[in-house]
Amino acid sequence: MAPRAVIVGSGSHIPKNRVTNDMLARLMDTSDEWIRERSGVEARHYVDPGTSTSDLGVEAARIALAHAGVAPEDIDLVVFATMTPDHYFPGAGALLQAKLGLRHVPCFDIRQQCVGFLYGLQLVDAHVRAGLARNVLLIGAEIHSGFMPWNAPQWEHLYGRSDTPPTAEQRAWNTRFRHLTVLFGDAGAAVVVQAQEGGRGIVDQILHTDGADYDKLYVPGTGFKHRPYVDPEQIARGDHIPVMDGRWVFKMATTRMVEVAAELLQRAGVGTSDLAMVLMHQANKRINEYCQKALGLPDSKVHHNIDRYGNTTAATVPLLWDEVVRDGRVKTNDLVLMIAFGAGMNWGATLLRA
Ligand code: ACO
Repeated sequence: MAPRAVIVGSGSHIPKNRVTNDMLARLMDTSDEWIRERSGVEARHYVDPGTSTSDLGVEAARIALAHAGVAPEDIDLVVFATMTPDHYFPGAGALLQAKLGLRHVPCFDIRQQCVGFLYGLQLVDAHVRAGLARNVLLIGAEIHSGFMPWNAPQWEHLYGRSDTPPTAEQRAWNTRFRHLTVLFGDAGAAVVVQAQEGGRGIVDQILHTDGADYDKLYVPGTGFKHRPYVDPEQIARGDHIPVMDGRWVFKMATTRMVEVAAELLQRAGVGTSDLAMVLMHQANKRINEYCQKALGLPDSKVHHNIDRYGNTTAATVPLLWDEVVRDGRVKTNDLVLMIAFGAGMNWGATLLRA
Protein backbone atom coordinates (compact mmCIF):
# COMPACT_ATOMS: atom_id res chain seq x y z
CA MET A 1 0.00 0.00 0.00
CA ALA A 2 1.42 3.42 -0.98
CA PRO A 3 2.11 5.75 1.95
CA ARG A 4 -0.32 8.57 2.57
CA ALA A 5 0.22 12.02 4.04
CA VAL A 6 -1.19 12.00 7.58
CA ILE A 7 -1.37 15.11 9.78
CA VAL A 8 0.20 13.88 13.03
CA GLY A 9 0.57 17.18 14.91
CA SER A 10 -0.47 20.82 14.77
CA GLY A 11 0.22 24.12 16.47
CA SER A 12 -0.74 27.76 16.20
CA HIS A 13 0.50 31.13 17.35
CA ILE A 14 -1.74 34.17 17.78
CA PRO A 15 0.01 37.52 18.38
CA LYS A 16 -0.84 39.16 21.70
CA ASN A 17 -2.33 42.48 20.49
CA ARG A 18 -6.10 41.92 20.28
CA VAL A 19 -7.95 44.70 18.46
CA THR A 20 -11.74 44.92 18.58
CA ASN A 21 -13.98 46.56 15.99
CA ASP A 22 -14.60 49.47 18.37
CA MET A 23 -10.85 50.04 18.58
CA LEU A 24 -10.62 50.20 14.77
CA ALA A 25 -13.37 52.84 14.83
CA ARG A 26 -10.83 55.12 16.57
CA LEU A 27 -9.03 55.40 13.21
CA MET A 28 -11.74 55.23 10.53
CA ASP A 29 -15.45 55.59 9.89
CA THR A 30 -16.68 52.14 10.77
CA SER A 31 -18.64 50.45 13.54
CA ASP A 32 -18.75 47.20 15.45
CA GLU A 33 -22.27 46.66 14.13
CA TRP A 34 -21.28 47.02 10.45
CA ILE A 35 -18.23 44.75 10.71
CA ARG A 36 -20.06 42.02 12.69
CA GLU A 37 -23.11 42.02 10.46
CA ARG A 38 -21.31 42.14 7.12
CA SER A 39 -18.37 39.85 7.90
CA GLY A 40 -18.72 38.10 11.28
CA VAL A 41 -15.40 39.55 12.52
CA GLU A 42 -15.41 40.72 16.16
CA ALA A 43 -11.67 41.02 16.80
CA ARG A 44 -8.30 40.33 15.20
CA HIS A 45 -4.72 40.18 16.49
CA TYR A 46 -1.69 42.12 15.28
CA VAL A 47 2.03 41.55 15.83
CA ASP A 48 4.35 44.15 17.31
CA PRO A 49 6.62 45.79 14.75
CA GLY A 50 9.77 43.70 14.28
CA THR A 51 7.94 40.36 14.42
CA SER A 52 8.04 38.62 11.05
CA THR A 53 5.93 36.00 9.33
CA SER A 54 8.68 33.40 9.73
CA ASP A 55 8.68 34.16 13.50
CA LEU A 56 4.96 33.30 13.69
CA GLY A 57 5.66 30.17 11.66
CA VAL A 58 8.51 29.13 13.96
CA GLU A 59 6.37 29.49 17.10
CA ALA A 60 3.56 27.44 15.53
CA ALA A 61 5.99 24.84 14.14
CA ARG A 62 7.63 24.26 17.54
CA ILE A 63 4.22 23.50 19.05
CA ALA A 64 3.28 21.25 16.10
CA LEU A 65 6.55 19.27 16.38
CA ALA A 66 5.99 18.74 20.12
CA HIS A 67 2.37 17.74 19.49
CA ALA A 68 3.48 15.23 16.84
CA GLY A 69 6.39 13.93 18.93
CA VAL A 70 8.65 14.47 15.91
CA ALA A 71 12.18 15.80 16.43
CA PRO A 72 13.30 18.78 14.29
CA GLU A 73 16.17 16.68 12.88
CA ASP A 74 13.65 14.20 11.45
CA ILE A 75 11.98 16.84 9.25
CA ASP A 76 12.96 16.24 5.62
CA LEU A 77 10.84 18.85 3.81
CA VAL A 78 9.40 22.31 4.58
CA VAL A 79 6.52 23.98 2.74
CA PHE A 80 5.71 27.55 3.81
CA ALA A 81 2.51 29.15 2.51
CA THR A 82 2.26 32.93 2.85
CA MET A 83 1.39 36.02 0.81
CA THR A 84 3.17 38.26 3.35
CA PRO A 85 6.77 36.94 3.51
CA ASP A 86 9.50 38.60 5.60
CA HIS A 87 11.33 39.64 2.41
CA TYR A 88 10.80 39.49 -1.36
CA PHE A 89 13.57 36.90 -1.23
CA PRO A 90 14.61 34.52 0.12
CA GLY A 91 11.30 33.00 1.11
CA ALA A 92 10.08 32.50 4.66
CA GLY A 93 10.71 28.72 4.48
CA ALA A 94 14.50 29.13 4.45
CA LEU A 95 14.34 31.56 7.38
CA LEU A 96 12.16 29.19 9.37
CA GLN A 97 14.52 26.30 8.62
CA ALA A 98 17.48 28.23 10.04
CA LYS A 99 15.57 29.52 13.10
CA LEU A 100 14.38 26.00 13.93
CA GLY A 101 17.84 24.52 13.32
CA LEU A 102 16.54 21.98 10.80
CA ARG A 103 18.87 20.02 8.55
CA HIS A 104 19.59 21.39 5.03
CA VAL A 105 16.30 20.00 3.73
CA PRO A 106 14.45 21.54 0.76
CA CYS A 107 12.13 24.43 1.64
CA PHE A 108 9.34 25.43 -0.71
CA ASP A 109 7.63 28.81 -0.51
CA ILE A 110 4.18 28.88 -2.02
CA ARG A 111 1.81 31.80 -2.36
CA GLN A 112 -1.70 30.74 -3.17
CA GLN A 113 -3.09 33.20 -0.62
CA CYS A 114 -6.20 31.87 1.16
CA VAL A 115 -5.83 28.48 -0.56
CA GLY A 116 -2.12 28.21 0.30
CA PHE A 117 -2.60 25.49 2.89
CA LEU A 118 -4.58 23.29 0.51
CA TYR A 119 -2.00 23.77 -2.25
CA GLY A 120 0.66 22.93 0.34
CA LEU A 121 -1.11 19.71 1.26
CA GLN A 122 -1.13 18.63 -2.38
CA LEU A 123 2.60 19.33 -2.69
CA VAL A 124 3.33 17.42 0.51
CA ASP A 125 1.07 14.52 -0.50
CA ALA A 126 2.87 14.21 -3.85
CA HIS A 127 6.27 14.12 -2.11
CA VAL A 128 5.05 11.54 0.37
CA ARG A 129 3.52 9.28 -2.27
CA ALA A 130 6.66 9.54 -4.42
CA GLY A 131 8.79 8.49 -1.45
CA LEU A 132 10.67 11.83 -1.40
CA ALA A 133 9.69 12.82 2.14
CA ARG A 134 8.58 11.12 5.35
CA ASN A 135 8.21 13.96 7.89
CA VAL A 136 7.13 17.34 6.60
CA LEU A 137 6.48 20.72 8.18
CA LEU A 138 3.68 22.62 6.42
CA ILE A 139 3.19 26.18 7.63
CA GLY A 140 0.63 28.89 6.92
CA ALA A 141 1.40 32.29 8.43
CA GLU A 142 0.56 35.91 7.65
CA ILE A 143 1.25 39.42 8.89
CA HIS A 144 -1.47 41.57 7.35
CA SER A 145 -0.83 44.46 9.73
CA GLY A 146 1.88 45.67 7.30
CA PHE A 147 -0.95 46.49 4.85
CA MET A 148 -2.69 48.80 7.31
CA PRO A 149 -2.72 52.39 6.02
CA TRP A 150 -2.14 54.17 9.34
CA ASN A 151 1.21 55.43 10.69
CA ALA A 152 3.07 54.80 13.97
CA PRO A 153 1.32 57.52 16.07
CA GLN A 154 -2.06 56.18 14.90
CA TRP A 155 -1.06 52.66 15.95
CA GLU A 156 -0.52 54.13 19.44
CA HIS A 157 -3.98 55.71 19.35
CA LEU A 158 -5.49 52.40 18.17
CA TYR A 159 -4.05 50.63 21.21
CA GLY A 160 -5.25 53.41 23.55
CA ARG A 161 -1.70 54.50 24.39
CA SER A 162 -2.10 57.99 22.89
CA ASP A 163 -4.96 60.52 23.18
CA THR A 164 -4.13 62.11 19.83
CA PRO A 165 -6.72 61.01 17.23
CA PRO A 166 -5.94 60.95 13.52
CA THR A 167 -6.47 64.21 11.61
CA ALA A 168 -9.57 64.46 9.40
CA GLU A 169 -7.34 63.79 6.39
CA GLN A 170 -5.77 60.69 7.99
CA ARG A 171 -9.21 59.42 8.98
CA ALA A 172 -10.49 59.85 5.42
CA TRP A 173 -7.42 57.98 4.10
CA ASN A 174 -7.98 55.09 6.53
CA THR A 175 -11.67 55.03 5.67
CA ARG A 176 -10.85 54.58 1.97
CA PHE A 177 -9.52 51.07 2.76
CA ARG A 178 -12.03 50.10 5.46
CA HIS A 179 -13.86 47.41 3.44
CA LEU A 180 -10.55 45.50 3.34
CA THR A 181 -8.60 46.35 6.49
CA VAL A 182 -11.31 45.38 8.98
CA LEU A 183 -11.37 41.81 7.67
CA PHE A 184 -7.76 40.72 8.25
CA GLY A 185 -5.63 39.61 11.21
CA ASP A 186 -2.14 38.19 11.82
CA ALA A 187 -1.53 34.53 12.80
CA GLY A 188 0.64 31.51 12.25
CA ALA A 189 -0.24 27.82 12.18
CA ALA A 190 1.64 24.67 11.28
CA VAL A 191 1.14 20.95 10.86
CA VAL A 192 3.53 18.01 10.83
CA VAL A 193 2.65 15.60 8.03
CA GLN A 194 3.99 12.06 8.13
CA ALA A 195 4.11 9.27 5.54
CA GLN A 196 2.10 6.37 6.94
CA GLU A 197 0.69 3.15 5.58
CA GLY A 198 -2.88 2.39 6.58
CA GLY A 199 -6.15 4.10 5.88
CA ARG A 200 -5.46 7.55 7.34
CA GLY A 201 -4.28 10.66 5.49
CA ILE A 202 -5.21 12.64 2.40
CA VAL A 203 -7.92 10.83 0.48
CA ASP A 204 -8.40 13.17 -2.49
CA GLN A 205 -7.98 16.79 -3.52
CA ILE A 206 -9.16 19.14 -6.26
CA LEU A 207 -7.37 22.45 -6.84
CA HIS A 208 -8.16 25.19 -9.37
CA THR A 209 -6.67 28.50 -10.48
CA ASP A 210 -8.16 31.10 -12.82
CA GLY A 211 -5.83 34.06 -13.30
CA ALA A 212 -8.13 35.93 -15.70
CA ASP A 213 -9.64 38.11 -12.96
CA TYR A 214 -6.55 38.43 -10.75
CA ASP A 215 -7.10 42.19 -10.48
CA LYS A 216 -10.32 41.77 -8.47
CA LEU A 217 -8.06 41.12 -5.48
CA TYR A 218 -4.37 42.06 -5.71
CA VAL A 219 -1.65 44.50 -4.69
CA PRO A 220 -1.19 46.94 -7.60
CA GLY A 221 2.16 48.38 -6.47
CA THR A 222 5.53 47.21 -5.09
CA GLY A 223 6.10 44.60 -7.78
CA PHE A 224 8.70 44.02 -10.47
CA LYS A 225 6.28 45.22 -13.10
CA HIS A 226 7.43 48.64 -11.82
CA ARG A 227 10.88 50.21 -12.14
CA PRO A 228 11.96 50.71 -9.43
CA TYR A 229 9.74 48.04 -7.92
CA VAL A 230 8.74 50.38 -5.07
CA ASP A 231 8.84 54.18 -4.90
CA PRO A 232 7.29 56.96 -2.78
CA GLU A 233 4.61 57.72 -5.42
CA GLN A 234 3.25 54.17 -5.17
CA ILE A 235 3.03 54.49 -1.41
CA ALA A 236 1.39 57.95 -1.70
CA ARG A 237 -1.25 56.48 -4.03
CA GLY A 238 -1.83 53.57 -1.63
CA ASP A 239 -0.77 51.06 -4.28
CA HIS A 240 1.00 48.94 -1.65
CA ILE A 241 -2.40 48.12 -0.10
CA PRO A 242 -4.54 45.39 -1.68
CA VAL A 243 -7.39 46.34 -3.99
CA MET A 244 -10.48 44.19 -3.55
CA ASP A 245 -13.80 44.10 -5.37
CA GLY A 246 -15.57 42.67 -2.33
CA ARG A 247 -18.93 41.96 -3.95
CA TRP A 248 -17.33 40.12 -6.90
CA VAL A 249 -15.08 38.08 -4.61
CA PHE A 250 -18.05 37.26 -2.36
CA LYS A 251 -20.06 35.95 -5.30
CA MET A 252 -17.19 33.90 -6.74
CA ALA A 253 -16.24 32.46 -3.33
CA THR A 254 -19.74 31.14 -2.68
CA THR A 255 -20.07 29.69 -6.19
CA ARG A 256 -16.63 28.08 -6.40
CA MET A 257 -16.47 26.69 -2.86
CA VAL A 258 -19.79 24.89 -3.19
CA GLU A 259 -18.93 23.68 -6.70
CA VAL A 260 -15.51 22.22 -5.82
CA ALA A 261 -16.74 20.62 -2.58
CA ALA A 262 -19.61 18.89 -4.40
CA GLU A 263 -17.22 17.76 -7.18
CA LEU A 264 -14.77 16.25 -4.68
CA LEU A 265 -17.42 14.51 -2.58
CA GLN A 266 -18.97 12.98 -5.67
CA ARG A 267 -15.59 11.80 -7.02
CA ALA A 268 -14.69 10.25 -3.65
CA GLY A 269 -18.14 8.67 -3.27
CA VAL A 270 -18.62 10.42 0.07
CA GLY A 271 -21.83 11.99 1.36
CA THR A 272 -22.02 14.92 3.78
CA SER A 273 -23.34 12.49 6.41
CA ASP A 274 -19.97 10.66 6.25
CA LEU A 275 -18.10 13.84 7.21
CA ALA A 276 -17.19 14.59 10.82
CA MET A 277 -16.16 18.18 10.14
CA VAL A 278 -15.97 20.75 7.34
CA LEU A 279 -13.33 23.48 7.64
CA MET A 280 -13.96 26.45 5.35
CA HIS A 281 -11.61 29.35 4.76
CA GLN A 282 -12.69 32.29 6.94
CA ALA A 283 -13.02 35.32 4.65
CA ASN A 284 -16.55 36.24 5.60
CA LYS A 285 -18.97 34.39 7.85
CA ARG A 286 -21.80 35.07 5.40
CA ILE A 287 -19.87 33.28 2.62
CA ASN A 288 -19.54 30.23 4.87
CA GLU A 289 -23.17 30.31 5.99
CA TYR A 290 -24.18 30.28 2.34
CA CYS A 291 -21.88 27.31 1.58
CA GLN A 292 -23.04 25.44 4.68
CA LYS A 293 -26.65 25.77 3.59
CA ALA A 294 -25.94 24.87 -0.04
CA LEU A 295 -24.04 21.72 1.03
CA GLY A 296 -26.71 20.82 3.62
CA LEU A 297 -24.36 20.77 6.60
CA PRO A 298 -25.58 20.94 10.21
CA ASP A 299 -23.98 23.51 12.58
CA SER A 300 -22.27 20.67 14.48
CA LYS A 301 -20.13 19.87 11.41
CA VAL A 302 -18.70 23.31 10.77
CA HIS A 303 -16.25 25.32 12.82
CA HIS A 304 -15.61 29.09 12.60
CA ASN A 305 -12.97 31.34 14.08
CA ILE A 306 -13.44 34.47 11.96
CA ASP A 307 -15.12 36.15 14.96
CA ARG A 308 -11.90 35.87 17.00
CA TYR A 309 -9.16 36.22 14.37
CA GLY A 310 -10.62 37.65 11.15
CA ASN A 311 -9.24 36.37 7.87
CA THR A 312 -5.73 35.06 8.45
CA THR A 313 -5.26 33.92 4.82
CA ALA A 314 -2.84 30.92 4.63
CA ALA A 315 -2.97 30.44 8.41
CA THR A 316 -6.74 30.03 8.50
CA VAL A 317 -7.26 26.37 7.59
CA PRO A 318 -4.40 24.97 9.74
CA LEU A 319 -5.60 27.18 12.60
CA LEU A 320 -9.11 25.71 12.31
CA TRP A 321 -7.59 22.21 12.15
CA ASP A 322 -5.53 22.82 15.28
CA GLU A 323 -8.62 24.03 17.16
CA VAL A 324 -10.92 21.13 16.24
CA VAL A 325 -8.26 18.50 16.95
CA ARG A 326 -7.31 20.00 20.31
CA ASP A 327 -10.90 20.41 21.48
CA GLY A 328 -11.68 16.81 20.45
CA ARG A 329 -14.23 17.67 17.77
CA VAL A 330 -12.07 15.78 15.25
CA LYS A 331 -10.69 12.40 16.27
CA THR A 332 -8.40 9.87 14.64
CA ASN A 333 -9.99 8.32 11.53
CA ASP A 334 -12.67 11.04 11.22
CA LEU A 335 -13.33 12.21 7.67
CA VAL A 336 -12.70 15.96 7.27
CA LEU A 337 -13.38 18.23 4.30
CA MET A 338 -11.43 21.49 3.80
CA ILE A 339 -12.65 24.14 1.33
CA ALA A 340 -11.04 27.46 0.40
CA PHE A 341 -11.21 30.33 -2.10
CA GLY A 342 -8.92 33.31 -2.46
CA ALA A 343 -6.84 35.70 -4.52
CA GLY A 344 -5.40 34.39 -7.73
CA MET A 345 -8.15 33.39 -8.11
CA ASN A 346 -7.42 30.03 -6.47
CA TRP A 347 -9.86 27.59 -4.98
CA GLY A 348 -9.95 23.98 -3.92
CA ALA A 349 -11.08 21.23 -1.58
CA THR A 350 -9.26 18.50 0.35
CA LEU A 351 -10.72 15.34 1.82
CA LEU A 352 -8.69 13.61 4.50
CA ARG A 353 -8.98 10.98 7.18
CA ALA A 354 -7.64 12.42 10.45
N1 ACO B 1 -17.42 49.97 7.86
C1 ACO B 1 -18.52 50.67 7.57
N2 ACO B 1 -19.00 50.76 6.30
C2 ACO B 1 -18.32 50.11 5.33
C3 ACO B 1 -17.15 49.36 5.60
C4 ACO B 1 -16.71 49.32 6.93
N3 ACO B 1 -15.61 48.63 7.30
N4 ACO B 1 -16.70 48.85 4.43
C5 ACO B 1 -17.54 49.23 3.46
N5 ACO B 1 -18.52 50.01 4.00
C6 ACO B 1 -19.65 50.63 3.32
C7 ACO B 1 -19.35 50.89 1.85
O1 ACO B 1 -18.65 52.11 1.69
C8 ACO B 1 -20.74 50.93 1.28
O2 ACO B 1 -21.29 52.21 1.56
P1 ACO B 1 -22.28 52.94 0.50
O3 ACO B 1 -23.46 52.01 0.38
O4 ACO B 1 -22.58 54.23 1.16
O5 ACO B 1 -21.49 53.04 -0.77
C9 ACO B 1 -21.52 49.92 2.12
O6 ACO B 1 -20.76 49.75 3.31
C10 ACO B 1 -21.71 48.59 1.44
O7 ACO B 1 -20.46 48.18 0.88
P2 ACO B 1 -20.25 46.79 0.15
O8 ACO B 1 -18.83 46.70 -0.29
O9 ACO B 1 -21.30 46.62 -0.89
O10 ACO B 1 -20.56 45.77 1.35
P3 ACO B 1 -20.66 44.22 1.35
O11 ACO B 1 -21.89 43.80 2.04
O12 ACO B 1 -20.36 43.61 0.01
O13 ACO B 1 -19.47 43.79 2.33
C11 ACO B 1 -17.26 42.88 2.25
C12 ACO B 1 -18.15 44.11 1.99
C13 ACO B 1 -17.30 42.58 3.73
C14 ACO B 1 -15.84 43.23 1.82
C15 ACO B 1 -17.78 41.68 1.44
O14 ACO B 1 -18.02 42.07 0.11
C16 ACO B 1 -16.83 40.51 1.43
O15 ACO B 1 -16.57 39.88 2.44
N6 ACO B 1 -16.31 40.11 0.26
C17 ACO B 1 -15.44 38.93 0.15
C18 ACO B 1 -14.09 39.12 0.77
C19 ACO B 1 -13.26 37.91 0.44
O16 ACO B 1 -13.73 36.79 0.34
N7 ACO B 1 -11.98 38.07 0.22
C20 ACO B 1 -11.20 36.95 -0.28
C21 ACO B 1 -10.28 36.42 0.63
S1 ACO B 1 -8.91 37.42 0.89
C22 ACO B 1 -7.58 36.72 0.04
O17 ACO B 1 -7.67 35.84 -0.74
C23 ACO B 1 -6.28 37.37 0.29
